[in-house]
Amino acid sequence: MAGSVDLHKISRFANLAIPSMAVLFFLGGHYLSFYFHFLTVTFLLLTLVNLFYLFIQKKHTLLRNFGILGQARYIIESIGPEMRQYLFANDTEERPFNRIERSEIYRKSKGIDAASAFGSQLNFDNAEVKIRHSMYPVDKADIKPYSLTFGEERGLENSYTITKPYMVSAMSYGALGEKAVRALSRGARMAGIAMNTGEGGTPKYHMAEGGELIFQMGTAKFGVRNDDGSLNDDKLRKLCAEPTIKMVEIKLSQGAKPGKGGLLPKEKITKEISELRGVPMGKDVVSPAHHIECVCKKTTVAFIKRVQDIAMIPVGIKLCIGKTSDFLEMVLEMKAQNIFPDFIAVDGAEGGTGAAPKAFMDGYGMPLLPALYSVNKILVREGVRDKTKIIAAGKLINSSRQFIALALGADAIYSARGFMLSLGCIQAMLCGNNTCPVGITTHDPSLQKGLIVEEKAKRIANYVHGLEHDFYEMLAASGIRDTKDIKIDQLYIPEDTALAGQIKALLNNPNL
Ligand SMILES: Cc1cc2nc3c(=O)[nH]c(=O)nc-3n(C[C@H](O)[C@H](O)[C@H](O)COP(=O)(O)O)c2cc1C
Repeated sequence: MAGSVDLHKISRFANLAIPSMAVLFFLGGHYLSFYFHFLTVTFLLLTLVNLFYLFIQKKHTLLRNFGILGQARYIIESIGPEMRQYLFANDTEERPFNRIERSEIYRKSKGIDAASAFGSQLNFDNAEVKIRHSMYPVDKADIKPYSLTFGEERGLENSYTITKPYMVSAMSYGALGEKAVRALSRGARMAGIAMNTGEGGTPKYHMAEGGELIFQMGTAKFGVRNDDGSLNDDKLRKLCAEPTIKMVEIKLSQGAKPGKGGLLPKEKITKEISELRGVPMGKDVVSPAHHIECVCKKTTVAFIKRVQDIAMIPVGIKLCIGKTSDFLEMVLEMKAQNIFPDFIAVDGAEGGTGAAPKAFMDGYGMPLLPALYSVNKILVREGVRDKTKIIAAGKLINSSRQFIALALGADAIYSARGFMLSLGCIQAMLCGNNTCPVGITTHDPSLQKGLIVEEKAKRIANYVHGLEHDFYEMLAASGIRDTKDIKIDQLYIPEDTALAGQIKALLNNPNL
């Protein structure tokens, strides 16, 4: 291209200039001042590195063609995410959460008024679901306080009632470091909300903070397994007798990697992890893609019943929807066996994870809003909506998205990354590397050092307080006196959203 910089020419010049400079500085050191030899050594080293790049290494074409200057590309590329995040990306550009969304959480968590000025920076040209207000807003004092009881459908003695619609979604000790788990658990306790333990086995650090916990049983059943990965009834019974464990969640699948199991490499199995997860040291442990007890709809529903009978507390399932017909068939089986989970947690494909293959993260699963609509619709259509509760998860980090989820049929809200951001997550996207710069998804003590549990716990409580404040304000603006009356007609759903497509699909095909 005319006028463009010819990098090849520049690199050829540099490749000659570097050894020439070494010779020049050598002469300078010999004839003028000894101190020039410091530069001689530097340029000699650069010459050697350059020769290595140009003639010896064979992996990188760029370095073989351009020499040391080619290295600049790798350096610039490696600091690209930081440069974009801090300098170049605009406020609505980044994913999964843009700066506006993150700032709102940071401000709520610090207890700062999250009001903005001038106008919304979001899209109003028919691309997003919005909420309809009422011409006759109600008084906040007239709104019935939120309350939801899990297990009431089965008349459980140990049913569990929540009085705020939010819960911390599953994140295991393993994905999170000790301090993050402690700060989240303490913050959840201060806020008066429940926290899901994730699939990391016996929730030692969660329990130490004394909050109310939902024990998650992943497909490897860490903490409650036999050596072959099947359920150990006695271990589960013992754990559920702990006063901090309020509910059990059987994880069937997860939005970020539906249908995918996992591997816990032996290198990661420390003595502590081996004890908490109930797995031997020195051997890789596989998390299968499904519970070995659950090979079809019949065995899956029977397994829910088995866990309910052992746990004696509410027991629900977590899943990401793939084929709506699969879910319909499972509901029909539940009806046939007259067994229903006490809750169904619907995880959208946009959900997060500590680590997952990119193909799964990007390519699999139904996004939350259409999935939630489908689950609710199918339960209503089959006449069993009153047999269970629905919890929604998937980027429900702010009050408006949470309200939309409630309008689509959710009874309660799970958030994982909302609470991570509240803890101080800066979206460095390094959760799987053990190098989280703010000490959340790392076990490195030098990185956890900066995470002060007391301070961060307060942020969690502030965040929940801010969300709750918005929640009642929004109910008032929508003219709703009881959360149960938040319905889909409260939403404005543009034609070209995935949600509109799914609504049409379900209307047109009763077998979905
Ligand atoms: C660091 C991290 C660890 C997670 N660990 C688990 C887990 O152990 N079990 C699980 O079912 N989901 C896990 N998830 C998924 C979340 O529980 C949640 O379903 C998903 O991220 C959607 O919620 P969000 O959009 O609010 O993050 C994890 C997510 C993150 C970000």
